[in-house]
Amino acid sequence: MLKQGTDINIKIDDITINYNDLGEGKLPIIFIHGFPFDKSSWQPQLDYLRQYDRIITYDLRGYGNSTLNQEKISITMLADDLIKFMDALQIQKAIVCGLSMGGYILLNALNRYPKRFAAIILSDTQCIADTPEAKEKRYKNIALLESGGLSEFTENMIKNLFYTESFTTKKETVASLKKVMLSASPDVISETLRALAAREEMCYTLENIIIPTLIITGKEDKAVSPQQSTFMHQQIPRSILNIIDKAGHLPNLEKPEEFNRLVKDFALSMNIMHVES
Ligand code: MLT
Repeated sequence: MLKQGTDINIKIDDITINYNDLGEGKLPIIFIHGFPFDKSSWQPQLDYLRQYDRIITYDLRGYGNSTLNQEKISITMLADDLIKFMDALQIQKAIVCGLSMGGYILLNALNRYPKRFAAIILSDTQCIADTPEAKEKRYKNIALLESGGLSEFTENMIKNLFYTESFTTKKETVASLKKVMLSASPDVISETLRALAAREEMCYTLENIIIPTLIITGKEDKAVSPQQSTFMHQQIPRSILNIIDKAGHLPNLEKPEEFNRLVKDFALSMNIMHVES
């Protein structure tokens, strides 16, 4: 196994992926962050779950400390990055958890490389493509970012990310996520908005998912409707759905104890069931 620790750099083609890798377990859990965050948005999971399993969190290209090359970003490219990252870490199979955009990336990768996944966790995500209205909103945001409106973009977005109560009970969490968003490059955010608008619908793939699947959503998610999780649950055979009360789009940060317990129980059962193939 390669060296473990935090803030490690690894080369993938011509980019560098920065990641954390802590804990031990036969089947690692890899966490893919949402848009436009970075791997620090998985800190409560890294801190807690590392005592039960090997936990890997990484920055998507262009975010946090991962670099970007000149190519246009697409969800397919980010999914390829995940597989190349697993190759570089010599991980044949993993449990992978994707939140929101992380879920889009995960569904894309799972469809093309099913053998690389032992189980999946889909949090606050959806399989549908953008509606024309959603695309229009993305393009308006690109125009805002191009005119120097990163803080306005961040303010507007953050309002939809948390459950109302979290703004008072989780002030530090909200503030640190805001800091992450404000430190992201407006060009990378714009480029990702284009990728999000262009992403393909993945709902047709769901009935073919035969690996254990845990679906989690905040009951009060305003960014991705919880109905999308219910829909995926109905489509994915034997999937498990958990709706977390008093949480919005980021239940892993708003209700970390509950989120961690669900992931822990799920991962522990996978580790027991996993047979090397
Ligand atoms: C995310 O959190 O990744 C975004 O809400 C995804 C999206 O805008 O579709």
